[in-house]
Amino acid sequence: MTTSRISGFYNMSLEERRAKIAETLASLPTPPELGAWTSGGLSPEAADHMIENVVGLHSLPLGIALNFMVNGRDVLVPMTLEEPSVVAGASFMAKLARAGGGYQATTSDPLMIGQMQVINVTNLNEAKLKIYEKKAELLAEADSIDPILKKFGGGARDLEVRVFNDSPIGGFLVVHLIYDVRDAMGANAVNTACERLAPKIEAITGGKVHLRILSNLADRRIARARCTIPVKELAFDTFSGEQVRDGIIAAYAFAAVDPYRAATHNKGIMNGVDSVVIATGNDWRAIEAGAHAYAVKNGHYTSLSTWGKDADGNLVGTLEMPMAVGIVGGATKVHPAAQAAVKLMGVKTANELAEIIVSVGLAQNMAALRALATEGIQRGHMSLHARQVAIAAGATGDLVEKVAAQMVAEKVVRIDRAEEILKGLK
Ligand code: MEV
Repeated sequence: MTTSRISGFYNMSLEERRAKIAETLASLPTPPELGAWTSGGLSPEAADHMIENVVGLHSLPLGIALNFMVNGRDVLVPMTLEEPSVVAGASFMAKLARAGGGYQATTSDPLMIGQMQVINVTNLNEAKLKIYEKKAELLAEADSIDPILKKFGGGARDLEVRVFNDSPIGGFLVVHLIYDVRDAMGANAVNTACERLAPKIEAITGGKVHLRILSNLADRRIARARCTIPVKELAFDTFSGEQVRDGIIAAYAFAAVDPYRAATHNKGIMNGVDSVVIATGNDWRAIEAGAHAYAVKNGHYTSLSTWGKDADGNLVGTLEMPMAVGIVGGATKVHPAAQAAVKLMGVKTANELAEIIVSVGLAQNMAALRALATEGIQRGHMSLHARQVAIAAGATGDLVEKVAAQMVAEKVVRIDRAEEILKGLK
């Protein structure tokens, strides 16, 4: 894959877009089955094996975000969601970011946390130290549980004991098992390891291990992305680059201090993040839970991203968040559309996928802030809505764009007006 820039993609037909993607993908070693996207990928029979009481399927649109360059590599990004403007917004911001070198992204090791709650302990401090005395033994046991993960370099890494002296049931211990899950999301491996260690922890502490479950606050598995947007690239219409930059920074300041705004600001980030998470068959509830818990890590809920400027006055954005995604198990493995999505991006590790996802989150955040800080959010929504109204009024081909553009210019997006404009144009 040489470039993620495909000019005119927006105005192509569905068929033309598929052909374009297929052509682009011809350079990849394993081209995805694009058919998975035409049909939705999943058969009712396959779905029947995934959850209970299946009666059918539920589809969502799959779009491709263009222009992304992550760590110097061009990537076409599949996004699954129902909301207009998100794919276009991310693609446009990725285009602006290219002028500053694209997105630079990194990840921590893929470390997940498993929790064991130990109740009915007589002396919490004594029990805590006894667990630490047996740490090497416990880690060795946990490490032997998943030979496949071990083969790929994963396994148990650390053990930590936390004491809660006061709770509705009195005091208890919580043991954290830190597990390197490599390219898996990790829930199965971590839950299995916690269940396996529980009897040993009981023997050491004399207590009872109650819950044994992974934590979705995956704060040891962090993805980070940053971008620099040359200030001149930000200018549009009557807005100077400096105005747009300062508007974005002031919008970020609002989210930094006010949880009511931070929730919406972070929702914009999750528009980008979740849609790639869903396209790749990953667990978006886990990602959502982790993101919002992480956003409150310093005691008050705040923005996951930051926006400021560099020494040359360019706009600089950063985003850091937990990113527990995998590429080897669960729906990612069994859903043909998810497989196609992973292949399209050419990612070979879960960390590479996480780096793309966090970059898309940052792009999407910038798209929302740029719109909010300048012309308002409705204008972008309006033009897509206008296209839908134009089509509903009977416009086809070039006329869709013409009718929509006139309605947007008039700020009247209604079917009766679309019909009148259409009549005039014909
Ligand atoms: C809408 O889905 C997302 C936004 O509300 C995000 C934001 O306000 O930053 C536009």
